[in-house]
Amino acid sequence: MGNASGALRIKNVRVGSDSGLVQVTIEQGKIMQVGRAQESFVADIDAEGGLMVPALVDAHVHLDAALTEGFPSPNHSGTLIEGIERWGQRKPYLTEEDVIARAEEAIRWHVGHGVLKIRSHVDICDPDLTALRALIKVREKVRPWVTLQLVAFPQDGIFCFPDGPLLIEEAMRLGADAVGGIPHYEWTREDGIRDVEYAFQLAARYHKPVDIHCDETDDDQSRFVETMAKLTSQYGMAGQVTASHTTAMGSYNDAYAFKLIRILAQAGMLVVANPLDNVVLQGRFDTYPKRRGMTRVKELMAAGVPVAAGHDSIMDPWYPLGSGSQLFVASMLAHVGQLTGTEELKACFDSITYAGAKAMQLRDYGIEEGMRADLAIFDVPTTTDALRLLPRPRWVVAGGSIVASTPPSATKVLWDGEYRSVSYLRAPQGPPNLQ
Ligand code: FE2
Repeated sequence: MGNASGALRIKNVRVGSDSGLVQVTIEQGKIMQVGRAQESFVADIDAEGGLMVPALVDAHVHLDAALTEGFPSPNHSGTLIEGIERWGQRKPYLTEEDVIARAEEAIRWHVGHGVLKIRSHVDICDPDLTALRALIKVREKVRPWVTLQLVAFPQDGIFCFPDGPLLIEEAMRLGADAVGGIPHYEWTREDGIRDVEYAFQLAARYHKPVDIHCDETDDDQSRFVETMAKLTSQYGMAGQVTASHTTAMGSYNDAYAFKLIRILAQAGMLVVANPLDNVVLQGRFDTYPKRRGMTRVKELMAAGVPVAAGHDSIMDPWYPLGSGSQLFVASMLAHVGQLTGTEELKACFDSITYAGAKAMQLRDYGIEEGMRADLAIFDVPTTTDALRLLPRPRWVVAGGSIVASTPPSATKVLWDGEYRSVSYLRAPQGPPNLQ
């Protein structure tokens, strides 16, 4: 099925939770036609009523650290601080081959879950920039199938790490796609502000977007996102600036949070929440009640600030779990952010599709005629069913060619000598089918 010329015909497919069944024609890697089902249509794929969505987006992951969990020693406490210590012990072992092998494996895991758009932060606090050089090679290798963006990320700080300013600039010169930062990790508030300012100066010099790890702490006095908003406005960078994590927003007083969310919306900033890592790493200094370690997703969305959700870690020193499933990430976002209203669940799915695409500034993204055919086809009829059942896509299509496929998910089990449904797939309208 499918071929190198990127031609593919799909029938009995839905293109939205409220959509009827349509047929889709793809030619030369682009979506040529989305139309009503016709008897005479000869298809390569019969989606049997499943849901087609644009390729899922992981707008925030650390591929250089992926799959390093446990070596040279495991994170016994599971805390952020021990994670940083363990990563520091792992870094001397980094070689280009090691980074390439792990990153490619983690990308394959993503692709199997329908994720073809990935923004990876890359630690540049290394005099040799080994991980960045390796991931630039990976970016070129996967380009036909996967859009991989690399953020120059100063894990150990810009101003509290030897030659930090030179290293992050060198990373931009080598070809990083976005400038990162970590203001809350600098030693002083003043250096934190310089950290943000330096990122914007580099962004202007290299004509690149900004994506800063900002206020990833429970400290309610950590307030660097406001500086990002001011500079986004001053530099005229609306739509090009992302604040990642921003967990301190969960601890701010309501009056300050209200003001901050207003200025983020006004400045045209974006936010990426990372619910998997943050729900386990934050709140560690609390006894009870414990904070959830999440930014104010519901309120940001209500104010019109695009919120994407990232996987952040896949089996690394900070988070020993993870599989590349962005559906699991969106499901966790729904739980931790209490986003279970009907429209809110749709917004959670949006956080791993269209909002993620906005954070990555992808232009050719969506299921519309003329767009590049980067798609995932699930054997569930709605996005809510996808969030509930967390299936792998049956087919993953990149540029019109099938790049991954998974057998249909088992929705029936043998019980008392009879196969019975265990998933209750709802019809979009009408009564439930309980057979
Ligand atoms: Fe991160």
